Amino acid sequence: MNTPAPIDRAALSALFSPREADTHKGSFGTVGVVGGGPGMAGAALLAARAALKIGAGKVLVGFAQETSPLPCDPQQPELMLRDARSLLDEDLGVTAWVAGCGIGTGALAANTLSELFVLRREAPLVLDADGLNLLAWGDVQPNWGEGPVVLTPHPAEAGRLLGISTADVQADRPGAAWKLAQRYQCWVVLKGAGTIVCAPDGSTRINTSGNPGLATAGTGDVLAGMLGSLIAQKLPWDQAVAGAVWLHGAAADALVAQGIGPIGLTAGELADAARALRNPR
Ligand code: APR
Ligand code: MG
Repeated sequence: MNTPAPIDRAALSALFSPREADTHKGSFGTVGVVGGGPGMAGAALLAARAALKIGAGKVLVGFAQETSPLPCDPQQPELMLRDARSLLDEDLGVTAWVAGCGIGTGALAANTLSELFVLRREAPLVLDADGLNLLAWGDVQPNWGEGPVVLTPHPAEAGRLLGISTADVQADRPGAAWKLAQRYQCWVVLKGAGTIVCAPDGSTRINTSGNPGLATAGTGDVLAGMLGSLIAQKLPWDQAVAGAVWLHGAAADALVAQGIGPIGLTAGELADAARALRNPR
């Protein structure tokens, strides 16, 4: 296939366009994060905090547990925390879903995702982490209707979905992303150094930002939250997906320039750095 075009700042004007004066929180969408099974609540929180800090109007979390492990996020009390059951049962006007971050691989996780696929109707869905593993193992089916879907595998998750080795994915990253986009009729973000973004029509781009500081737990959860957030904010689709990928890497680059990483950069620091990039002084 053709060499992917680069994703750089110049192609992402919508990321930096100023907000209109006559707006309110409803103008910037409501993100619903479904994930955070037992022992993994932090994955959902990382995604949710990132979604809020890069500009979503409202962010809700549904933990994949019988009851929410915490009533409120002390570090980000703006988030609304529920168990997944109540989040799916209540109609809270979610305009973009982020699912799978730390969700686990048990029956509760699989049932929650299968229900969400139907219930979301036209609302876009970003599917990450164990959501992808459950899909690869056939524990959830890709019956996700007409609304747009973004899959965000790292190379091992992509290999699992395609039934090939991680090395084979890495040997032809644009090709692997395109195969997944065709198989699942969706957008694909194939992560790792030089993240590939593949649209459902097969157009493929490669990210130019980011560094090995991102090789630390939770950075993928932050990316999933950023994707859901920009989609909820109704950036043009190609700029929302490519914009989240670029912004995530550029935030890591900005942190390294400040001496915060690459060694010891933490995932939770990315959202503040990404927010600063969206608000140039
Ligand atoms: N250069 C540039 N970017 C990198 C590099 C690198 N050397 N290493 C990692 N990244 C980026 C990836 O492109 C991606 O955006 O960091 C992010 C890592 O995402 P994940 O691999 O999903 O990592 P993580 O957040 O820890 O995943 C959490 O989900 O995928 C599962 O097995 C994973 O259970 C774990 C959970
Ligand atoms: Mg991950």
